[in-house]
Amino acid sequence: MHNLLQGKKGIITGALDEHSIAWKVAETAHREGAQFILTNAPVALRLGKIKELADKTGSDLVPADATSVEDIGKLYDAAQAKFGKVDFILHSIGMSLNVRKGRAYTDLNYEFLAKTYDISSISFHKMMQVAYQRDLMNEWGSIVSLSYIAAQRFFPKYGDMAESKALLESFARSFGYYFGKKAKVRVNTVSQSPTPTTAGQGIAGFDAMLKYGEMMSALGNAPAQACADFIVMLFSDYTRMVTMQNLYHDGGFSNTGLTEDVLNAFQGA
Ligand SMILES: NC(=O)c1ccc[n+]([C@@H]2O[C@H](COP(=O)([O-])OP(=O)(O)OC[C@H]3O[C@@H](n4cnc5c(N)ncnc54)[C@H](O)[C@@H]3O)[C@@H](O)[C@H]2O)c1
Repeated sequence: MHNLLQGKKGIITGALDEHSIAWKVAETAHREGAQFILTNAPVALRLGKIKELADKTGSDLVPADATSVEDIGKLYDAAQAKFGKVDFILHSIGMSLNVRKGRAYTDLNYEFLAKTYDISSISFHKMMQVAYQRDLMNEWGSIVSLSYIAAQRFFPKYGDMAESKALLESFARSFGYYFGKKAKVRVNTVSQSPTPTTAGQGIAGFDAMLKYGEMMSALGNAPAQACADFIVMLFSDYTRMVTMQNLYHDGGFSNTGLTEDVLNAFQGA
């Protein structure tokens, strides 16, 4: 424990169960001295274990569908009543109906596609826009969302989530500019290794992706806890000049062409 977030207040979306990246961020931010409001979609609040996390971290729980500007407004009302302004926001939300229902990339349902973008990317813009217009963020605040390398490179079963992540990363760049100019707030995405969570395991062939990632990364796949540590650092004052970036947190995967492990596997084949 380093008291990295002592005195800081924030909002954490997306904690569903103890496997969620956001769950680990909440535990770590709490350990580092932060106070925050936890939020998730109303259905996740009913089904998930998030109440347990709220009790453990002494946090309020506010339901909000991140695609609803009205719900985001109510969430921020609660944050403003409790904290005044906030120092950090974690957007850790993703879902594709096409992927979930097994629709091939060459046979997308376009209503599902619009919903995928709304949930997985546009919700990030909405959360930033409402925060920006309300002046919710303290100076030198930090906003982070979670991405995946399928934004840059093709991965077969990732479907329309690839474009969602490309859009998400673009929103971070563009809004990062406006938030930086307005209030010295930084906006970044963290491009994380495959991680065994509910969202992750919804992708067909996920176990094979995990194994491939493990073999293709010098440090192995980055675990959820390491991702949480990195995000907490991004919320801290030690990264004040880092903004508009997509930051790879993947054990080296993104800069690897071939590893000895993979080479050996093919030589034996
Ligand atoms: N697991 C991986 O392999 C991996 C890798 C890279 C990036 N990510 C990203 O990390 C983020 C968090 O996912 P996770 O892996 O922790 O899985 P998770 O399933 O634990 O979290 C996803 C969360 O999104 C929430 N959500 C869905 N629709 C919502 C809505 N309309 N409003 C509010 N919340 C909503 C869910 O309730 C859930 O809590 C996602 O953006 C995901 O794409 C995951």
